[in-house]
Amino acid sequence: MDTQPQRLTLRTAWRSLEAHHARIGTRHLRDWFAEDPERAERMSVEVGPLWLDYSKNRVDDETLRLLEALAEECGLQARIDAMFAGAHINETEDRPAFHVALRAPLDSRLAIDGKRVAPEVHAVLARMSEFAVRVRDGLWTGHTGRRIRNVINIGIGGSDLGPLMAHEALRPYAHPELRVAYVSNVDGRDLASALAGLDPAETLFIVCSKTFTTQETLANAHAAREWCLSALGDRAAVARHFVAVSTHRAGVEGFGIDPGNMFGFWDWVGGRFSLTSAVGLSLMIAIGPERFREMLAGAHAMDEHFRSAPFRNNMPVVMALLGVWYASFFDWPSHCVVPYSFDLRRFPAHLQQLDMESNGKRVDRLGRIIDHGTAPIVWGEAGTNAQHAFFQLLHQGTRPVPCDFIGFARSHARVGRHQDLLTANCFAQAEALAFGRTSGEVAAEGIAERQVPHRTFPGNRPSNMLRAPLLTPDLLGRLVALYEHKVFVQGVIWGINSFDQWGVELGKLLAGRILAEIESGAGIESAHDASTTRLIGRYLDERDSS
Ligand code: F6P
Repeated sequence: MDTQPQRLTLRTAWRSLEAHHARIGTRHLRDWFAEDPERAERMSVEVGPLWLDYSKNRVDDETLRLLEALAEECGLQARIDAMFAGAHINETEDRPAFHVALRAPLDSRLAIDGKRVAPEVHAVLARMSEFAVRVRDGLWTGHTGRRIRNVINIGIGGSDLGPLMAHEALRPYAHPELRVAYVSNVDGRDLASALAGLDPAETLFIVCSKTFTTQETLANAHAAREWCLSALGDRAAVARHFVAVSTHRAGVEGFGIDPGNMFGFWDWVGGRFSLTSAVGLSLMIAIGPERFREMLAGAHAMDEHFRSAPFRNNMPVVMALLGVWYASFFDWPSHCVVPYSFDLRRFPAHLQQLDMESNGKRVDRLGRIIDHGTAPIVWGEAGTNAQHAFFQLLHQGTRPVPCDFIGFARSHARVGRHQDLLTANCFAQAEALAFGRTSGEVAAEGIAERQVPHRTFPGNRPSNMLRAPLLTPDLLGRLVALYEHKVFVQGVIWGINSFDQWGVELGKLLAGRILAEIESGAGIESAHDASTTRLIGRYLDERDSS
């Protein structure tokens, strides 16, 4: 295991960046663009059909040089190599983070402890493909012999957000006669509304859980099984209506699912990095194995780019370094992602887990308290809706929020002038954020003096612009891998293990304790604070009085 003995904030490049920030931190994008007509051309990177324009960021060539130097001082290339070598880079859980192996071709040499993983990965893919085709073609029937028309993925976190996002994104490729839905929340309304109007004889459930111990998923899976069995009246029906995606064979068997109907993956696939594993089964059923493989190929193309491109031309590295610049040197706590694409509207939610569960940490890999900003709060919404909700704050709020815009030249929907309208709005927002409108410009338009401050836009608000011709499976694979690697690079710079998530454990433990008290009827036994005790008491009173 390599260590990072020197504190990040003591590194030469970090110190240089601090000094550089003090010199240029307030410079305006207007001036940079005015001085350098080549800027837009120079500050862009392309990976196949995906193109990034990062010229509207508050950086100059020196900033980029210093950020690159920081990446080098932090041993980024060695960490990238370690990831692709299947090393145990997830130190606290003592395992590799090897999601890149999920989309590598069959002849790939990627290996863990000298053992190539491609044969196993492709064996699972082949089983998934065979199953997906049978469901799509109506050959996998329900217990009564009826064709499956509804597929419900039951999972949460990485076992839900990735496939749900991708299913929405690739709906134009989906089988027209299959309805694929996602149930995650332990609020019973989620399952109830997904099941409303469905015929159990035509419904297939995919219980998707890496650990097969997640409370919400198991509660929903048990309720779904009851719903199914009470209609079909035969325990044997489980075999035709329930399949599992998991690493935990015993748990799957314990639930009553035939392990022959289980699609496995490995402990070296983190939940939030698992879309390209069997966790994508619901997506594969919807879009078919060929399209799914196109998505894998797109992700693989980005993996190869990430692994081999020089940092300055490396899309995930560039985006990561810009994020470090804002989170750690400007101390801006949030990052907004705005896809100008209805189909990508769940992408920000997927990124929230990917980024915040990976790098939302306060100690470094050596367990030392971190003394600089780390993961931003990631949020966002599809444009143009976002413009009518929170863009006021982005333009005129007191704290700048760096944004990623994502958009496409063509849409799968050929409706009126919509794509031109959508694109014009996307470009306009990035332009307005960067350049704003000065009080002089406002006054020159004859605006009453007292209104001038209200109508002035400070500008100098940075953004990335990601563009591609069309949202295809290949493109989605590239986008997913781009952000996965961006998050990893930021973790390397900040000295964080991006692949564990101990921060979710305490809440789970306490929920288990409180649940036992709520359900036992014996009253509140463990010592809670006064507020929690009162909350539980009031809940019990209200629950039992109706
Ligand atoms: O929220 C914690 C977490 O462990 C995530 O990392 C994971 O994606 C999610 O729960 C679901 O876990 P599982 O797939 O094991 O049900």
